[in-house]
Amino acid sequence: MRLDIVTIFPEYLEPLNVSLVGKARAAGRLDVRVHDLRAFTHDRHHTVDDTPYGGGPGMVMKPEPWGEALDAVLASGAGDDPVIVVPTPSGRPFTQELAQELSAARWLVFTPARYEGIDRRVIEEYGARLDVREVSIGDYVLAGGEAPVLVMVEAIARLLPGVLGNADSHRDDSFAPGAMAGLLEGPVHTKPPEWRGRTVPEVLISGHHGRIARWRRDEALRRTAANRPDLIERCDPAALDRHDLATLAELGWEPGEDGRFGRASGRVEE
Ligand code: ADE
Repeated sequence: MRLDIVTIFPEYLEPLNVSLVGKARAAGRLDVRVHDLRAFTHDRHHTVDDTPYGGGPGMVMKPEPWGEALDAVLASGAGDDPVIVVPTPSGRPFTQELAQELSAARWLVFTPARYEGIDRRVIEEYGARLDVREVSIGDYVLAGGEAPVLVMVEAIARLLPGVLGNADSHRDDSFAPGAMAGLLEGPVHTKPPEWRGRTVPEVLISGHHGRIARWRRDEALRRTAANRPDLIERCDPAALDRHDLATLAELGWEPGEDGRFGRASGRVEE
């Protein structure tokens, strides 16, 4: 996969040389190219921003450097079009599903902005002929899109074939499709069997695969109910087995008349 990132802070993307993404680059699975937006300015001060039309606080990124930078990146492509990912708190949420979808692309171009964002005409211009996605990594506002690019690249890169050592490693990830779809991943343990007087749950050393799978699923249900009740509300009761329903009932969740889970009435909130 090829990744181009256009930014006024190329050094912010240095972590892409480290760990999983760094190894994927070294192994030739990821071709990451970072471009300095200021290299596409022509004034002495390398200006990339200006005051907003209509007034208001902050500055807006000028369209000309972005246009020149994106034209140069696009012209360097070998035929296919990239998906352009524009990080912005006003975008669609970045989810595991979107990470999966983007991991199937051959080429992604990221346009992390600073200030109040990029002049709208840039998104319109490239959106008219390319797949442009405005994406938010969460309901909070960061100082720029570089940290969101690091987040998205890591989430996407670990899904690429051959990037994770063990191809099964993302099978049980929280939010992954499959048997645990819509549930958070439960707790994990490793050696030693006892640490500071705390032991590993007996079932995990039982060697009994059926009991282990059931325990993991119950823990996933418990953790999801505690940390993300919204995910339980979205769960389809018909997709759950008898044990799941019993575990959720113990936690105070029952399917209602609308076929959706709700908290059983009369239960005291924790
Ligand atoms: N830029 C600033 N905040 C952001 C967010 N939450 N997601 C994506 N890009 C951003």
